Amino acid sequence: MSKIKKTFQALQNIAQEPSLLNLVINDNESRKKEFLETYAHLKSLPQVDFADLSDDFDESVDLAFLDGGSLPTDLALLKTLAKGKNSYFEIGTWRGESVWNVAKIIDDCTTFNLSKEEINTLGLDKRYAELHGIISKKNPSILHLEGNSKTFDFKSLNKKYDLIFIDGDHSYDMVKNDTAKVFKSLVHENSVVVWHDYAFNPEKVRYEVFKGILDGLPKDLHSNLYHVANTMCAVFTKQNFKTKQFEELKNPEFLFEVNLKIKK
Ligand SMILES: C[S@@+](CC[C@H](N)C(=O)[O-])C[C@H]1O[C@@H](n2cnc3c(N)ncnc32)[C@H](O)[C@@H]1O
Repeated sequence: MSKIKKTFQALQNIAQEPSLLNLVINDNESRKKEFLETYAHLKSLPQVDFADLSDDFDESVDLAFLDGGSLPTDLALLKTLAKGKNSYFEIGTWRGESVWNVAKIIDDCTTFNLSKEEINTLGLDKRYAELHGIISKKNPSILHLEGNSKTFDFKSLNKKYDLIFIDGDHSYDMVKNDTAKVFKSLVHENSVVVWHDYAFNPEKVRYEVFKGILDGLPKDLHSNLYHVANTMCAVFTKQNFKTKQFEELKNPEFLFEVNLKIKK
């Protein structure tokens, strides 16, 4: 198709479906340019390997392999970080896969999500609303809280958590909102905070989310951020690690062994 034909077709599609404009505005390359205007010195976070996070890294995870889920390595990261910790809080339950896995290590787990009613009022699929917590609600010791992180007063929980997972709405404004609120109300001196979707995949940084993290976090804490290699996660920790530079087209230095079996 010629460029003129393509332009005409694109304009016709946008006229019929104006929300398509968001695809252009949210394009990662445009987001990256905007990101670099503020953070020119920081194209990506320093990377940490699993082997440097944990001496004897060996995790198994429960995973449905369905839409909106995490990578096995993301869940393995949460489980690895959960060791030796006593409390976990997450924003974003969805089916409850992440909290289900962490609850195998930490007894005191809380997951926070929009209520079914609020999801319905957003005009989203009824079935989507119903499936929230479908996995995690099978574990009665997991506390399910409902609310909108945009308006919820996290201070009202009156509690600080050892491990926190931010995995709610991934728009810039909401990542910034969730990050700022978590650091204002839920962290203590040694809390570890993990963000999902810092990257679209382990080799492609998601600049909209990355900017939300940096803008929501006090500047003096930026140096405590890492990207765990082979995951889509950014981590905040006061621990120091051996790091390396992020590479977009990496030569794999090792392989993970993955065994799959069906658990009812
Ligand atoms: C990516 S999913 C979470 C996946 C889950 N952590 C896992 O790994 O299994 C994001 C969730 O955030 C919830 N969410 C979106 N916006 C929210 C908000 N403003 N407040 C609370 N929850 C929100 C959605 O309903 C959805 O369940």
